[in-house]
Amino acid sequence: MILTFYVSSHCNSSFMKKYLFGFILAIGVVACAPKLTETNQEIVEAKEKPAEVSMSTDAIEGKKVYAKKCSSCHEIKVIDNYTAKQWAGILPDMSEKANLNETSSRQVASYVNWELKH
Ligand code: HEC
Repeated sequence: MILTFYVSSHCNSSFMKKYLFGFILAIGVVACAPKLTETNQEIVEAKEKPAEVSMSTDAIEGKKVYAKKCSSCHEIKVIDNYTAKQWAGILPDMSEKANLNETSSRQVASYVNWELKH
């Protein structure tokens, strides 16, 4: 801005003024751009974090198992499309179909329960 002022008072060519002003503006935009991206990322992280934090280790592991093992025969099912009662019937059946061991079954159940509550 000081430079713009200096140019406006010492340079009479309006073309030069416009050109320089545009140039300074461009520098400003470039200088601010990384900051903006950073802020956006922070917002995204802030939105995602609380959910993950409230997840138990079992649920976090279950989410991975769910994504990996529950999408081989059909597309990945939307958990909220079924009630907790329905899941109680579906899970033992599907855990068997997916050949999940006891730990993985428990983890998937934990993830499904977490998802139903959030
Ligand atoms: C061996 C194949 C197979 C695997 C692995 C499998 N499923 Fe299924 N699943 C099926 C079939 C077959 C159906 C019935 C057809 C359909 O709805 O696509 C089904 C249906 C479902 C349904 C709908 C049930 C309903 O009553 O509408 C849900 C929810 C589901 N599966 C969840 C899971 C979950 C969670 C896992 C992982 C633990 C899983 N499935 C793994 C074969 C599989």
